[in-house]
Amino acid sequence: MGVVAASDDILGAGLVRIQEEVDDAFDAFLPVPEDTRARLVEAMRYAAIGGGKRVRPLLVAATADLFGVSRHVAVRAGCAVEAIHVYSLIHDDLPCMDDDDLRHGKPTLHKAFDEATAVLAGDSLHALAFEILSDEATSTDPFTRSELIATLAGASGMGGMAGGQMMDIQAEGADYDLRSITRLQQLKTGALLAASVEMGAILGKVPLEGRAHLRAYARDIGLAFQIADDLLDHEGDESKAGKALRKDDAQGKQTFVTLMGADGARAQAYALVDQAIGHLGAHGKDAALLSALARFVVERDR
Ligand code: IPE
Ligand code: IPE
Ligand code: MG
Ligand code: MG
Ligand code: MG
Repeated sequence: MGVVAASDDILGAGLVRIQEEVDDAFDAFLPVPEDTRARLVEAMRYAAIGGGKRVRPLLVAATADLFGVSRHVAVRAGCAVEAIHVYSLIHDDLPCMDDDDLRHGKPTLHKAFDEATAVLAGDSLHALAFEILSDEATSTDPFTRSELIATLAGASGMGGMAGGQMMDIQAEGADYDLRSITRLQQLKTGALLAASVEMGAILGKVPLEGRAHLRAYARDIGLAFQIADDLLDHEGDESKAGKALRKDDAQGKQTFVTLMGADGARAQAYALVDQAIGHLGAHGKDAALLSALARFVVERDR
């Protein structure tokens, strides 16, 4: 895959495994109907199958694994978060938002299909996430299903990803300080990553008081993840990233890099990763995959 060092076996194997599982699950969730909705489902498949790193499903699965949750169930919940993520990328790339032509090394959905189809594919993936979570195959316990749904809904809407996207749009040409940028990123990117960890804990029936260290881990990697995305935009290689870079500056967007400089932002991202890994101490070797994933978040080149 070319995204991880060969030495990092646990991470490389974890990524390959979840990527296959998520692709297979979306393939099963998205049979193409034999009527005029076919175009919509083809578009959903185009965006959802293949391409992404699947960091969020891996976070769900690696956290759930700490508590002995069945893999099948963890993958379903991971697909729900990924469906929201994929929808957010489809809409993020639209001409009315970032106006991008390339995603995952291929034309963005509205380029490969059309804008109306892209809007509807995003809408339908949004709905699919909650169809998956509300199904008894995800959990036979209605309280668990409802907690999963509430967590993902909260992380997706005005208090999460969509709210962060609004702040991101308003940040163009604005005079945001580090505090405001941090808040923006926590919503735009951090919320779905945090929800992924939280959903792993919910499936593991971890009581609220037992989740604090996992929330602290998720908060730190969420911030590190977006700093890495901003650094990638600033200095990454487009052929590896599979998306247009050097856009934040061109759009006059305030990011961690504009506020801290590339070196300062990088130092901050690495410090956050060390702090994140520190929160996992109680799990010992069992948390090796979550630790490796924290490093991957800042060392990735796509
Ligand atoms: C990119 O997220 C968009 C942000 C939230 C910063 P990812 O880097 O996780 O996207 P893919 O799905 O792996 O391409
Ligand atoms: C997008 O952030 C975050 C979402 C919620 C989709 P960016 O606009 O920075 O993501 P890329 O760089 O296009 O992947
Ligand atoms: Mg954007
Ligand atoms: Mg974008
Ligand atoms: Mg970006």
